[in-house]
Amino acid sequence: MDDLIQAARDAMANSYSPYSGFQVGAAVRGESGAVYAGCNVENAAYPEGICAEATAIAAMVMAGERMIREVCVIGPGDTLVTPCGGCRQKIREFAGQDTAIHICGPEGHRRSFTLADLLPESFGPDNLK
Ligand code: THU
Repeated sequence: MDDLIQAARDAMANSYSPYSGFQVGAAVRGESGAVYAGCNVENAAYPEGICAEATAIAAMVMAGERMIREVCVIGPGDTLVTPCGGCRQKIREFAGQDTAIHICGPEGHRRSFTLADLLPESFGPDNLK
């Protein structure tokens, strides 16, 4: 898990967050074992900003992978920076119910959840089959 956390931490340093001042980094491990990182990228037109998880997932898909083995999110402050609702659904597209989501703060790992913990009874690709 250390490589995943380090990738998320490095990504956090690249966060473009001039409006919120809230730097977030994320990393996902694909089926191959490779790690893909992302940071939040805000926009002067506020709703156009994108979350760190979204950029990490996009990097994984762009590399040709379609399955997330685990996720790490790192953010500032004392409160757990868990993925927002939209990002839970984005993770759901490529992950299973038991996929681990590790939440970190500046000092390191804080808590881990499964996707089912964060997005129970979810809608996903199987619904459309
Ligand atoms: N943010 C993320 O990147 N991921 C999350 O899971 C929570 C929120 C970003 C979005 C925005 O740029 C900033 O944090 C404040 O909401």
